[in-house]
Amino acid sequence: MAGVAAASTTSTIGSFLSKNPYAPPSWASHLSPAPSQTFSLGHLPTPIHKWNLPNLPNGTEVWIKRDDLSGMQLSGNKVRKLEFLMADAVAQGADCVITVGGIQSNHCRATAVAAKYLNLDCYLILRTSKLLVDKDPGLVGNLLVERFVGAHIDLVSKEEYGKIGSVAKGLGYAMNTAEELKFVKDVATATGIVLDPVYSGKAAYGMLKDMAAKPAKWEGRKILFVHTGGLLGLYDKVDELSSLSGSWRRMDLEESVPCKEGTVTKTT
Ligand SMILES: Cc1ncc(COP(=O)(O)O)c(C=O)c1O
Repeated sequence: MAGVAAASTTSTIGSFLSKNPYAPPSWASHLSPAPSQTFSLGHLPTPIHKWNLPNLPNGTEVWIKRDDLSGMQLSGNKVRKLEFLMADAVAQGADCVITVGGIQSNHCRATAVAAKYLNLDCYLILRTSKLLVDKDPGLVGNLLVERFVGAHIDLVSKEEYGKIGSVAKGLGYAMNTAEELKFVKDVATATGIVLDPVYSGKAAYGMLKDMAAKPAKWEGRKILFVHTGGLLGLYDKVDELSSLSGSWRRMDLEESVPCKEGTVTKTT
């Protein structure tokens, strides 16, 4: 048994960051050009388990696909596309990658980490508000990882970003209502699953709202919810979240069990 365990551990370690030939599954065989290779960057397959959300309609089961567990710095669903895109960049002999996103883009953070793993330089164009575009963006959330791994960061205002060809417009993007943030906090308290504020939090919020409004539509159904990662984005919301979070206190030494100096209390 020990031999089997050792062998499988070795093969997991050996495959991480390796380049592998790729043959598309039959449902993707029409893709043209089809990718021919991938870099193994994610810890896949990610687990699926039952998600015991409170107040589900009768007979409704929710399961969760944990793509938030596809890695640590390189976590989330973005690693899946990067396995292909990075293999393509390397095959083309690229020495750097350039990408664009919002100031807390999970895609940009994952790209910066993947690029560093593969020894490519990474240039990030990050969209922020007019007021902040000339200021140090700090180290909150995704920015900490991007700056630690040495990505080159260029800030642009939303207006300038529009000019460089983005279609990522939309009033509500990366903005949350107090109710949504409270929902993310309540789900974590009830189930231990920490959603992200931009994607999975809003999706689960919408799903449960619809379940409450139209329970008959959901009764008896088995749902698979995909958690696409993005936990780091939550750090950008700490000011709004602090009043919702669990409390703390200064330990009261008078309250603790008195213990005579030199006496050891055995706990097991
Ligand atoms: C954590 C997270 N989930 C979901 C998405 C959306 O992913 P897709 O573009 O694959 O729909 C993003 C995109 O930036 C993301 O960062």
